[in-house]
Amino acid sequence: MLEVGCGTGRALAYLAQRGVVARGVDLSPVMVKQTTAKWAATGAEFICGEVLEHLRDHGETYDAVYSIFGAAWFTDPGRLFPLVHQRLYSRGVFAFSQPPAIPGAYGPQGMYKGGFAGRAMPSGRSQKPEPPPEGPAEVTSLRPGSLSESLLANARRGGIEKYVVGALITDEDGRVLLLRRRAEDFLGGLWELPSGGAKAGERLVDALCREVLEETGLTVSGVTGYVGSFDYASRSGRRTRQFTFAVNVTGGAAGAITLSEHDESAWVDPHDLPAVSDETRALLGG
Ligand SMILES: C[S@@+](CC[C@H](N)C(=O)[O-])C[C@H]1O[C@@H](n2cnc3c(N)ncnc32)[C@H](O)[C@@H]1O
Repeated sequence: MLEVGCGTGRALAYLAQRGVVARGVDLSPVMVKQTTAKWAATGAEFICGEVLEHLRDHGETYDAVYSIFGAAWFTDPGRLFPLVHQRLYSRGVFAFSQPPAIPGAYGPQGMYKGGFAGRAMPSGRSQKPEPPPEGPAEVTSLRPGSLSESLLANARRGGIEKYVVGALITDEDGRVLLLRRRAEDFLGGLWELPSGGAKAGERLVDALCREVLEETGLTVSGVTGYVGSFDYASRSGRRTRQFTFAVNVTGGAAGAITLSEHDESAWVDPHDLPAVSDETRALLGG
């Protein structure tokens, strides 16, 4: 059996102790080191890797693939499901658990406790007190610092040279805030999420708050989920990955938007998008 996003490794250890050939793959090098130290004696195998890359690159076949609030929650189903299908025996089973999808967000879903729009979303697990967030004091809900580490480590391994953060800000009707690039700019006229490059050594959450403030005048009050990433070549040709996070802003969608780099802003239905890049369209599920 293969567990994707095996985290603490307890389920795999349980299976291995009962004679199942149990393998897990997880993005976090720290978790994999810990689970290997703790559970290797059970016979369970823990591999550090990104699930889509692992399934693509390794030809082993399984009776079952499963994810317990694991990688299936964070991964584009359009890419994950065909890969899992390839790695399952013909009567194999794919089982996964995850909370309800974030309204308006297709594909990779963030971990969220406070809910996408501030409403409590039960995750079906016991609610232990959250450790203090690693972002600025007012940024709560998600622990973006630890997630950033995994995302950046994975990007570095993949040869990514530049990191960009994007913000998914929605109003109460599920409309998304987009900004239009000035006609004279690179990719002029294209609509995009508030976004920008992280500076050297800057944490993703800090870059996110800074870029949203700089480009819209809005203050991020909470990071509520990780939406996903896409890669592209920057204007200077560097391999760039944009990480997009769902955020709440102070005052909500009613806050006054002050543009600095763009010439227009709009709240748009994600199913009826104006001219956006293919990557943004895929991210928003439009
Ligand atoms: C919420 S934890 C759940 C862990 C475990 N299943 C459990 O119940 O304890 C999600 C896990 O999925 C891993 N993960 C998220 N996206 C992943 C990806 N694309 N590839 C591999 N692992 C991933 C994270 O590193 C994390 O350990």
